[in-house]
Amino acid sequence: MSNNKNNPEIDDATGTQTTGHEWDGIKELNTPLPRWWLIIMYATIVWSVVYWVFMPSWPGINGYFKGTRNHSERANVDAAMLELQAMRSANSEKLLASKSLTDIENDPELLQFAMASGKAAFGDNCETCHGPGGQGAIGYPNLNDDVWLWGGTLEDIRTTIAYGIRAPHPKSRKSLMPAFGKTGILSGEQVNDLTSYVQYLAGEDDVNEEAVQRAAPLFKAQCSVCHSADGTGNRMFGAPNLTDREWLYGGDREAIKYTITNSRNGVMPSWDHRFDEATIASLAVYVHTLGGGEQE
Ligand code: HEC
Ligand code: HEC
Repeated sequence: MSNNKNNPEIDDATGTQTTGHEWDGIKELNTPLPRWWLIIMYATIVWSVVYWVFMPSWPGINGYFKGTRNHSERANVDAAMLELQAMRSANSEKLLASKSLTDIENDPELLQFAMASGKAAFGDNCETCHGPGGQGAIGYPNLNDDVWLWGGTLEDIRTTIAYGIRAPHPKSRKSLMPAFGKTGILSGEQVNDLTSYVQYLAGEDDVNEEAVQRAAPLFKAQCSVCHSADGTGNRMFGAPNLTDREWLYGGDREAIKYTITNSRNGVMPSWDHRFDEATIASLAVYVHTLGGGEQE
């Protein structure tokens, strides 16, 4: 039976027009795709043909059709990398040529570069010991306060980072506080007296005055070489100020006594074999700007 536009056949069960096609009594319903759908489909076909022409598209035996625009993501990335490298090495060179922090601070782009690369290197390599943001822990100095064992100018910090402290590097910062108690240089009583003396230096109330008096000549003889006569420390030996109540190893009696008995001699690794000079300079700038950096 043929279908006729003027007299379309309606399927009884669904109420849909049929196409007029029929196989063994089964009739095809006429359910065309929506118009909007068809328009989009034809549009994408047209778009793909345009795309083939302009952009890399068809594979060939020796390569592929590159398109009239000769577009290549890889070439774009290569160009961007070259540009980045050029910028980096220009910044790295500028950083190495800078004599002082003021030079760097006067160049906002350079400072930003140093801070970003210093921060990244610090996070990966230094936070394990110095803590996030360099706030320190017992035995690991806080790097964002004004207290410096070895000095807080940019150059001091750079030297510490490059060569380390008590590290197996020929230029490492060195000094060894003797283990006065353990090695028998001082008796247990003398160590006790000196513990009181250190507490007295730190301005602790409630210190045994007789012990302090007994310890005064001992401190002068044994300790003042490094910690200086008034106990304020000496950066030449990385000897902490004992009067400022900023403790590297703790300020309670037990911690002080332990230090005098056994010594501590913390080790900071050297980094000059691991980082190029520009990275070390960046780290120094980063640490210097954490809070306690000193001008030269
Ligand atoms: C294995 C642990 C460790 C790591 C890792 C480490 N440090 Fe240290 N750092 C120390 C110790 C311990 C000291 C103190 C040593 C001492 O007693 O003088 C120190 C001291 C310092 C000082 C001197 C502080 C002062 O008061 O003079 C600076 C600066 C410093 N570290 C920076 C860094 C930077 C930057 C990194 C990462 C590149 C780093 N450290 C990684 C352990 C570490
Ligand atoms: C050769 C130099 C030297 C001599 C001598 C020396 N010290 Fe030290 N002392 C240091 C250094 C360096 C440190 C800190 C670095 C470390 O041990 O990690 C230190 C740390 C300390 C600390 C720990 C401070 C803190 O912040 O936790 C105390 C307390 C101390 N010394 C007391 C003494 C007393 C008391 C004497 C004398 C009996 C003495 N020192 C002699 C170099 C010396």
